[in-house]
Parts: sequence; C-alpha cells; structure tokens
Amino acid sequence: IVYEDSTSASKAIAQEIADLIRVKQAQKQTCVLGLATGSSPKGLYAELVRLHKEEGLSFSNVVSFNLDEYYPMEPDSVNSYVRFMKEQLFNHIDIIPENCFVPEGRLTKEEIRIYCEQYESKIEAFGGIDLQILGIGGNGHIGFNESGSLQNSKTRLVALDHITRVAASADFSGLEKTPRTAITLGVKKIMEAKRVILMAWGEQKANIIKASVEDEVTNKVPASYLQEHRNATFVLDKAASSKL
Ligand code: GLP
Repeated sequence: IVYEDSTSASKAIAQEIADLIRVKQAQKQTCVLGLATGSSPKGLYAELVRLHKEEGLSFSNVVSFNLDEYYPMEPDSVNSYVRFMKEQLFNHIDIIPENCFVPEGRLTKEEIRIYCEQYESKIEAFGGIDLQILGIGGNGHIGFNESGSLQNSKTRLVALDHITRVAASADFSGLEKTPRTAITLGVKKIMEAKRVILMAWGEQKANIIKASVEDEVTNKVPASYLQEHRNATFVLDKAASSKL
C-alpha cells in the first residue's frame, strides 16, 4: 500500500493496531505485538500515544516483544533499544512494564543461546505474535537478520554487516564505537506472526523495496521472504515506492 507520506501511512497502521487491540479486549484476550526500532516506526508510536491520550485506547491487554537489541548493551545507555522503546512508546501509554520484552543486551556469551530459546518460548506461551511491525535496513535486513539469514533462522546472536554499522555509526559517534553484534529475533518467528506490516519511507529505501517486493526470494535480501507470508503488507510512502 502506497500513501502520500509517512504521516498518513503511520496513522493508518496505528488505526489497524488500535482495532486489533480493541477486538482482543472485547474477547478478553491478550494482544501480542512484535515491535521494531529505528526511525521508521517513530511516527507510528507517536500516533499510538495520541490514540491513548486523546481517544482512550488502552494497552492493558498488550504484550510486546521487540525484534532486537545491540550486544553488548546496557539498558539505560542512550543507544539501547530498551531506552528507545520507553522514550518513544512505553513511558507514555498504560502498557504493563512487565509485559514489555526487549532482548537483553547484558548477557554473558555463554548465556545467550539459552536466553534466545527462552525468548522464543515466551512468545509461544502467549500464542505467537498477532501483529509484527518491521522496518527494513538498506541491505534488506529485517530485525537484525542480515543478508544470508535463512528463512528458518532462530533468535540468536548475529554479526552486524558493515553497511548496518555504518548506518548506526552516527548514533554511536563513530564506527569504532558501534557494536559489532546484536541479538535478533530469527526469521522463522517473524514469518510465524499472524500479520506482518513492513514500513519504509524515503527514496533511499526505494531500491531495496523493489528488490524485496519484485525480485526473487533470496537470503541475500531477508525482507524478500515476506513474499511468502500469508498476510504481510509493505506500507510505503511515495518515495519508497518510486522504483516499483
Ligand atoms: C536497525 C533496526 C531494524 C530497522 C533498521 C532500519 O537496523 N535493527 O529493525 O528496521 O534499523 O532503520 P530505519 O527505520 O531507521 O531506517
């Protein structure tokens, strides 16, 4: 779906999420959201905060699982995704803090494998992800599933691509200080989500959007796996859709 701009697109996605939360509330069920970081979802989170404050949307039945976190990372560090989510969303809505899960960046190397298995088990215990929000990296990564990630990949520690680190280096004041690794939800759990919405804004995403949507499904471009998802939508602004 192509919108005139990212603001109208973000509002439409927020409305779909609000509708889903309310349907689940009426059924006295938990709504499991898969959440993303990066600049792309900021407008969506701002709109969800507005719906909470101005239209009484409650998140009391929402459980959220974030896609990824840098490793190593302290949760209160300026660049942590825990901090990002609190600042952009969690601190401004009535979601129960214990229901907000972001991969832990403070584990020892030995703890990571079992932690990742437990992260997936927790998602399964809540019945899987109802709606997964995604951004897309310039190389087609989803979460931190970089080029080469397999369709059945699990939640794991990954090495970040050079291009991903360069993109992040401004936040970390230089490439040398930019983490080399991260923990990411695997492609498999993303593909198991009942509904997936990938958002992309701006001309700089146009080439990778074309590759993801119109070219062959390949592990070189993990976002292309979504062509095989039963209920995935790419929500774009005009600029991001300009090469389609
Ligand atoms: C990071 C995140 C991804 C995100 C990507 C794109 O790599 N781990 O989940 O999709 O950035 O970021 P942006 O939305 O800022 O373009």
